[in-house]
Amino acid sequence: MRLALAAVAALLAGCLEAPMTLDEATCPPGGTALRYDTFAQPYFAQYCDGCHTGARSGAPAAYRFDSRDGIRTHAARIFARAAGPNVSMPPGPVDPPEEGRAQLAEWLACGMP
Ligand code: HEC
Repeated sequence: MRLALAAVAALLAGCLEAPMTLDEATCPPGGTALRYDTFAQPYFAQYCDGCHTGARSGAPAAYRFDSRDGIRTHAARIFARAAGPNVSMPPGPVDPPEEGRAQLAEWLACGMP
């Protein structure tokens, strides 16, 4: 019984693990070469805007990422759902590569240049 409880607790801890936050992320000492025009704009267009600019997916209408302002407004939530180790967005079917999530984390942590 004790063992079963421990197993359940471990399982819950894994599922409920808090996402890494934007506050915890660090910009590399030399800054980032990633830019809105050449990295972020096409990245959000490819992996997010299909759902986040239209009504077809159930994505909340307030969460639009097709402008710098939209991204800045929601940066903390974008990080918590999709950057670095966080993988709950997009919900599929097309997942960005791990490298893309790492770049998104870096660009957000460096102040979204
Ligand atoms: C296949 C459709 C789809 C794609 C693609 C998608 N989303 Fe979402 N998104 C949703 C839906 C549905 C919700 C509402 C349910 C939820 O929050 O899980 C949502 C909600 C959100 C929210 C608001 C909820 C919160 O946790 O604050 C954020 C932020 C978000 N998505 C970020 C992103 C980012 C960043 C991308 C691209 C890397 C992305 N999403 C791609 C469908 C999508």
